[in-house]
Amino acid sequence: VNEGHGVKGLADMSIQTLPKQYIQPLEERITSSDVVVDEEQCIPVIDLSNLNDTEVDNMICNAAEKWGFFQIVNHGIPIKVFENVKDATHRFFALPAQEKNNYSKDYSCTNNVRFGTSFTPQAEKALEWKDYLSLFYVSDEEASALWPPACRDEAIEFMKKTELVIKRLMESLMRGLNVKEIDEERESLLMGSKRINLNYYPKCPNPELTVGVGRHSDVSTLTILLQDNIGGLYVKKLGNETWLPVPPISGALVINIGDALQILSNGRYKSIEHRVIANGSNNRVSVPIFVNPKPNDVIGPLQEVLESGEKAVYKQVLYSDYVKHFFRKAHDGKDTVDFAK
Ligand code: SIN
Ligand code: FE2
Repeated sequence: VNEGHGVKGLADMSIQTLPKQYIQPLEERITSSDVVVDEEQCIPVIDLSNLNDTEVDNMICNAAEKWGFFQIVNHGIPIKVFENVKDATHRFFALPAQEKNNYSKDYSCTNNVRFGTSFTPQAEKALEWKDYLSLFYVSDEEASALWPPACRDEAIEFMKKTELVIKRLMESLMRGLNVKEIDEERESLLMGSKRINLNYYPKCPNPELTVGVGRHSDVSTLTILLQDNIGGLYVKKLGNETWLPVPPISGALVINIGDALQILSNGRYKSIEHRVIANGSNNRVSVPIFVNPKPNDVIGPLQEVLESGEKAVYKQVLYSDYVKHFFRKAHDGKDTVDFAK
């Protein structure tokens, strides 16, 4: 129906009814009865300026163990950087379909740049109401040469400006695991490669019948997410079946633990399921940076974690095999991590 135009192509045609391929089974939709809206129940918001180092360490490690998700404010990154990359995302998706298609699976001149729609359309029971541009970072030179000019400089800037914060978060998380120093090998395991996605969720007819993104956990070590002010991201509460909204906070970044860090920490830090609802009145953009091991790294519980005599919950797996496993199937919750058992 919609070859190459993405869901934005459908939205731009002002269709009045959701095409049936996008109708999700009942259990995949978010209904108000699944959702808890209670101030007490919100994921932690950590102010990086107000606390001394040990306090920040403790809050970060505690959030990683109990929630798997938190927001950070007063992190020192200028808000202009966020505005720039959100504007750039709107600019890219506003391009004519033919131009965006130069970056699609069939036409892109590199696997490191990919424009697509839904998640793994060939594996999905029902499609997701989302388009994306996914950019695997190799070097500034490659990014400047191959990333789309409409958004490349802003995406690179966002990656650069978050580097220090990512290091700082990793250091805190490692102190919580008794890892004293992030040497070269650890640096590769924890943040050896990065991918940035620009996500576009157009306004949707019948938003209650579909999803923006289905239930999944991330395969990263850490994900740094910038969302705009529309909202729609929901996170599962550890230990029960309720979903908590992640309210947009101007200037904040959402941080979550991914499967790779759950495995490296032997299950101490939690990679939590999350999903995004579709919106009937607004277009939404979000920009996650996935901080990952290098594809050729072998990940398994860190030695320091097992030193206390703790039994390894996960085996060693080649990270690229783990990722391949994840992309072979549709979004269906958190089973991916069992691949490492
Ligand atoms: C995702 O987790 O895949 C997207 C998150 C978001 O758009 O808020
Ligand atoms: Fe995610």
